[in-house]
Amino acid sequence: MSAQFDHNRKLYIETVGCQMNMLDSELVVAALRKDGYELTDDPKAADTLLFNTCSVREHAEHKIYSSLGRLKYAKRNAPHKVIGVLGCMAQKDQDLIFQKAPHVDIVVGTGQLAEIPRLIRETRESANRVQQKAVSLGRRDGSVKEVSGSFQSYDPLRDPEMRPTPFQAFVRIMIGCDKFCTYCVVPATRGPEQSRSPSEILHEVRVLADQGVKEICMLGQTVNSYKYSEDGRQHRLSDLMYAIQQVEGIDRIRFVTSFPKDMTDDLLQAVRDLSKAVRYLHVPLQHGCNEQLRLMKRGYTVEDYREMMGRINETIPGCSVSSDFIVGFCGETEEAHQKSMDSIREFRFKNSFIFKYSERGGTKAAELLPDDIPEDVKKRRNNEMLDVQNAISEEGNADFIGSRVSVLVEGPSKTSEKRAARGDAITVPGDPLATQLMGRSECDRIVVFDGNPRLAGSTAEIEILDCTGTTLIGSIVTREVQHGSNTVLPILS
Ligand code: SAH
Ligand code: SF4
Ligand code: F3S
Repeated sequence: MSAQFDHNRKLYIETVGCQMNMLDSELVVAALRKDGYELTDDPKAADTLLFNTCSVREHAEHKIYSSLGRLKYAKRNAPHKVIGVLGCMAQKDQDLIFQKAPHVDIVVGTGQLAEIPRLIRETRESANRVQQKAVSLGRRDGSVKEVSGSFQSYDPLRDPEMRPTPFQAFVRIMIGCDKFCTYCVVPATRGPEQSRSPSEILHEVRVLADQGVKEICMLGQTVNSYKYSEDGRQHRLSDLMYAIQQVEGIDRIRFVTSFPKDMTDDLLQAVRDLSKAVRYLHVPLQHGCNEQLRLMKRGYTVEDYREMMGRINETIPGCSVSSDFIVGFCGETEEAHQKSMDSIREFRFKNSFIFKYSERGGTKAAELLPDDIPEDVKKRRNNEMLDVQNAISEEGNADFIGSRVSVLVEGPSKTSEKRAARGDAITVPGDPLATQLMGRSECDRIVVFDGNPRLAGSTAEIEILDCTGTTLIGSIVTREVQHGSNTVLPILS
């Protein structure tokens, strides 16, 4: 009956935050499609509007409140529209959301996304707000069953339209986090760390491979802490990689985000030995000063991180490493800030995500440490870090000029989309369809080159001719055979 009731309804969904949220939105959309919904990118045309939220920094929350604010009058004029807030902010601030945005109908935390179709239905049927209490994520009572039941039965539902591309899919191998870095809200919004069963993960990977997915990205807040006892033995992330290597159709395996202390040799050897493993690790250092790392309660020193980097470089020569950094954390001196910049120079990260510290209610840092670095100082330090990282990234990219890299082609680049919109497309002799394509190398570098859009989803050999800090620029050197057909495409360069 529900499918009939919701037939042809239009769903608008806005997602902020990390890859976990992107995956959650994919699952929500897949579940609602079963109820007859189709996606729209026009909020005005939508019957149901969902906001999948992030609480990691204050800015992310502000963005959601302003999007919600803009809907106040729309809801007054069209009270049948259902407005839902999902995800981390919903988990943390349920009452506050209803208070600040009373026109919101549903607030659903991270532990109960599978309930969304039912909640939307009930809201429509009752024409009243359906108050849904965020479920406990089981930290206090030690019970993790509720959340784990919800995510294990939910992840197999997928929606190709919501993926980064049709050939790339996220697979959650664990949820939650037990590290409790003092600045971080994630252990509160995502609950305790729980790994998923390897047999379920593999089943999901096989289903995705059957749907044409080429690249699997395994997700976890500390993905390399993965462990699960099944069939009388302990499975680690490296075991999952060996198993996925065997899945036909999958060409690339990657994982984010790694925790420095849990970077074990078996994992590095798997990345080295498996032909499908992407030679790229995202292992945030967060700070280059030991005193700051101690206040953050990261559980390692710069010396420990250096030791880990030594093992990475020795085991997997040419492996790219990227990091996250926080600037302006409590008590950060100029000297400490210089040490963070020195660490970028020393470790030569492929790229770094640099964030200004944002105090989060409920964290240990908010409780115990004053947020004492003025905003203008945070901004300046952020810019200085970015300048150092950009220079290192450009130098790292320049090393590739003159070499050949293997690229999984994702599709037309942003530039080519903009050019096409302006009616000013590029031309390649002998190939009227050619445009600028983008993909990623085996060490996760963005590569652009001219080629036929039919190459999307296949692997191409690209000769690198030039670069910027963020992008390698090259041209195709291979004759490429399309997957699933025997068509040999013309040589494009
Ligand atoms: N689990 C991942 C990161 C999750 S949050 C890990 O541990 O690496 C993504 C990034 O946001 C973090 O790496 C950190 O750099 C940043 N971050 C987290 N809390 C923050 C805060 N309160 N203020 C500013 N940046 C923060
Ligand atoms: Fe947050 Fe630390 Fe957990 Fe990462 S490891 S999610 S930064 S508490
Ligand atoms: Fe944000 Fe939640 Fe991810 S707080 S970073 S969306 S786990």
